[in-house]
Amino acid sequence: MSNTVITLDEVVAWILAYARAISENRAMLTELDAAIGDGDHGANMDRGFKAVSAKLQAGGTDISQVLKTTGMTLLSTVGGASGPLYSTIFLQAAQACAGKTQLTLQDWIVMMDAAAKAVVARGKAAAGDKTMLDALIPAVQALKDAAVAGLSLADALRASAKAAEDGMEATLPLIARKGRASYLGERSAGHIDPGATSTYLLFKTAAAALAQPQVQARKW
Ligand SMILES: Nc1ncnc2c1ncn2[C@@H]1O[C@H](COP(=O)(O)OP(=O)(O)OP(=O)(O)O)[C@@H](O)[C@H]1O
Ligand SMILES: [Mg+2]
Repeated sequence: MSNTVITLDEVVAWILAYARAISENRAMLTELDAAIGDGDHGANMDRGFKAVSAKLQAGGTDISQVLKTTGMTLLSTVGGASGPLYSTIFLQAAQACAGKTQLTLQDWIVMMDAAAKAVVARGKAAAGDKTMLDALIPAVQALKDAAVAGLSLADALRASAKAAEDGMEATLPLIARKGRASYLGERSAGHIDPGATSTYLLFKTAAAALAQPQVQARKW
């Protein structure tokens, strides 16, 4: 049986798993950014999430605080376009779950929706501009659709990971309209966006870490 809530330990496990995924995919993210940007996305993200990982090794005491620490650490360690935007995701999510000791699917939707809206507000980009939003916006929409369809938390998280993956792949033919890649104009087409790729990894690791089967306590 899948669990119906996300716990503090799972949130910490998710962020640590994401840090590992970034480290493992650092070269790939660098390659993607070298094609249409300046080749620093892998290094930027890895630097930031290594610092986050160090801070979370001891675990956490509060879900909102863990997310806030993550956002603040990213802000101080990752520069460029993606640093403030990833920081925004975690700080918004932190704000949206303040005081909660566990998260339902509905909580998670509110958090991710707030995060996506804040990235739009901060980066002034829209869906189809070939940015991280092309993975983030469909992932949030998939969560909402899953809730309406009555899916379990685990299935909703898996649906959002799939939507983020599809969104990432759909950036391939797009012409970048925001960020460094937009300087290339039509030459930015034919490459997957690095930020959409790192955002897909965020939802992929969420599906793996936040939808663990619950160990049922024996009642006898
Ligand atoms: N305005 C924006 N809104 C949303 N995402 C953006 C925006 N600008 C860039 N991005 C995302 O950031 C990614 C690039 O991140 P990266 O870490 O390489 O920063 P950068 O653009 O190289 O910054 P800098 O060149 O200033 O160091 C892009 O692939 C894109 O997904
Ligand atoms: Mg770059």
